[in-house]
Amino acid sequence: MSSPKRILLIIGGGIAAYKCLELIRRLKERGHSVRAVMTKAAHQFVTPLSVGALTNERVLTDLFDLDEEREIGHIRLARDSDLIVVAPATADLLARMAGGHADDLATAVLLATDKPVLVAPAMNPAMWLHPATRRNVAQLKADGIGFAGPAIGEMAERGEAGPGRLVEVPQLIEAIESALEPETANSGLLAGRHVIVTSGPTHEPIDPIRYLANRSSGKQGFEFAAAARELGARVTLITGPVSLPEPDGVRIIHIKTAAEMLDAVRAELPADIAVFAAAVADWRVVAPQTEKIKKAEGRNAPTLTLTENPDILKTIAQPGPDRPRFVIGFAAETQDVLAHAKKKLKSKRADWIIANDVSPSSGVMGGENNTVHVVTADGVESWPEMSKAKVARKIMERAAEQLQAKRTAAE
Ligand code: CTP
Repeated sequence: MSSPKRILLIIGGGIAAYKCLELIRRLKERGHSVRAVMTKAAHQFVTPLSVGALTNERVLTDLFDLDEEREIGHIRLARDSDLIVVAPATADLLARMAGGHADDLATAVLLATDKPVLVAPAMNPAMWLHPATRRNVAQLKADGIGFAGPAIGEMAERGEAGPGRLVEVPQLIEAIESALEPETANSGLLAGRHVIVTSGPTHEPIDPIRYLANRSSGKQGFEFAAAARELGARVTLITGPVSLPEPDGVRIIHIKTAAEMLDAVRAELPADIAVFAAAVADWRVVAPQTEKIKKAEGRNAPTLTLTENPDILKTIAQPGPDRPRFVIGFAAETQDVLAHAKKKLKSKRADWIIANDVSPSSGVMGGENNTVHVVTADGVESWPEMSKAKVARKIMERAAEQLQAKRTAAE
């Protein structure tokens, strides 16, 4: 938990605005003070009365409210806080921020501030993916604005799914607290190191149209790449087909099959750390058809003959001059998690295995959080549930320390 801070929360007009009430309550519980500004549109979704009751402060709404201007003034408001959080940040609000508008209190404060700004977007996936929003987001990132989310999932509109959901409150708090206290102490921990991360599922073709795959979202792997980058590493992310925003400053190699993933990893060696977070398909079709397999009356359903894919982790972790200096594998299990993980540590010759329960009830596959056990030659450490971003950060920091210890031991 970080030391108490003053947070200015700008509430935009979106269906997710109600989550701000929970956000304010949790931030206050953690000792922070919160002052809120609401856009005009936000009034359609939450009332200033309920926001004010939770913040214990008058809610500010309009640039031209002379009373408010006399009391604090938007310039002071912009500077009197440690962090400005915009949640939910609608497509329109992002566009106005990117354009430098200042025609209401929210945008005037955002233009006048010299404090860090964190935005949590929430909108329909089509709006988030629209080239105009992509441009605005790129501009805001270039301007130094921090982003939390959006999360991927079902939208308020029935049947719509994709990136655009406001991140859940615990993740938003985590992002707020790390924006307040950037972990600068560790920011150079992996400077000069090369980190390779495999991520996502692989797709094994049956014919040009069909393939074998699995439910991996790739989120945990992408978080590893982002965490390694934040710690100063040069990062190569080798990913199967996923629909995730690409982390900044990371070299991304897109592959489809396990064989392509193995080739890509080999081509990117040497590496200081390799993280094998991909959910590689264990089998592939022996003879994928070059033309679409057609059904025909009287003909039996086709039989797929499968053969085992190369085990990428096992291949790369074999002792030899090319072996990355630190190898981290995963054991995604639905039962006997630790027993399987310990076996994999030995059989795959990894330095660590990160084990987790991926039963449907765990919500890990596709979810934001993960509960992991770090299995090493020295034993097992079980961590509490935390966001995938935090898991990645903590593991990369630990791996960096291990690398340092190896180097010191070698000297
Ligand atoms: N892995 C890999 N290449 C494969 C299979 C797995 O690199 N062909 C890696 C994964 O990225 C992960 C670890 O090995 O780091 C464990 O993968 P998992 O699929 O859980 O284990 P399997 O070896 O496939 O064992 P089992 O099928 O018994 O669960």
